[in-house]
Amino acid sequence: MNIQWYPGHMTKAKRAMKEDIKLIDLIIELVDARVPLSSRNPDIDDLGAGKARLVLLNKSDLADERCNNAWASYFEEKGCHVVKVNSKSGAGLKSINGVVLEACKEKIERDRRRGILNRPVRAMVVGIPNVGKSTFINSFAGKACAKTGNKPGVTKGNQWIRLNKSLELLDTPGILWPRFEDQQVGIRLALIGSINDEILNKEELAMELIRFLMSSYPQVLSERYDLSAEDPLEGLMQIARARACLARGGELDLNRASNLLIEDFRSGKLGRLTLETPQQS
Ligand code: G4P
Repeated sequence: MNIQWYPGHMTKAKRAMKEDIKLIDLIIELVDARVPLSSRNPDIDDLGAGKARLVLLNKSDLADERCNNAWASYFEEKGCHVVKVNSKSGAGLKSINGVVLEACKEKIERDRRRGILNRPVRAMVVGIPNVGKSTFINSFAGKACAKTGNKPGVTKGNQWIRLNKSLELLDTPGILWPRFEDQQVGIRLALIGSINDEILNKEELAMELIRFLMSSYPQVLSERYDLSAEDPLEGLMQIARARACLARGGELDLNRASNLLIEDFRSGKLGRLTLETPQQS
């Protein structure tokens, strides 16, 4: 599988983000709780040096709760504040205001010493495409004020969304570029649907998912698909048979079975699953 992010895009996005970060006190970084490392770009650590950091484990409703807790500890150990959220339903969003004040208490104290009272914390939401930035901004701000779209960097003429007397949000999210040096990262991003489906080999991807489930969540395969196979191809064929995925002439339609399995995973029908753990990092 060969997935590329153009270097030209990357340089431009990085430059734009550097400028925007100068304007803010706090970086709110969204990661996908099912793949918290693969869905982040560690360059943000350098770009955001000296800024307060809040990591949101978004889509935590789709991820394994034990792993969510392990990932929260992982990021906390790195000096970030962490909140588990479901931006779609709004779960977890209420606790963010308090955590923001805690994360920025040094800045607030510094302002106070200088006689500046009630200057709001300025924050920027960042993350790779599809991680849920627009959904988060819309739910958190309580109105449809973030535009969806995958343009890297931040549009000019920044607008601030005043959320309350102590917090302002840059209206457009900062789009980070995913990293693909590691093939496993590409596979995980493809599985969560962050990479254009058209450039993927679905059968290969489905077999990667089956391989992962066989080793980490074997009960999922037996419970949902009654799978007894021991190798991924045989597993995919069993799913095709069980779900009557047949092509003309009665052959198994592995492409349809692959789409079905991947869709079941993405929509949470396979249960709450996390594809990587802090121990692997
Ligand atoms: P982006 O700005 O970072 O690119 O992401 P965006 O908000 O567009 O969200 C990408 C997809 O992720 C959307 O689904 C959105 O509904 C979903 N999403 C965002 N946050 C959460 C969450 O916490 N939990 C769950 N389960 N899903 C979340 P979509 O399929 O593109 O659209 P739709 O089905 O919601 O219409």
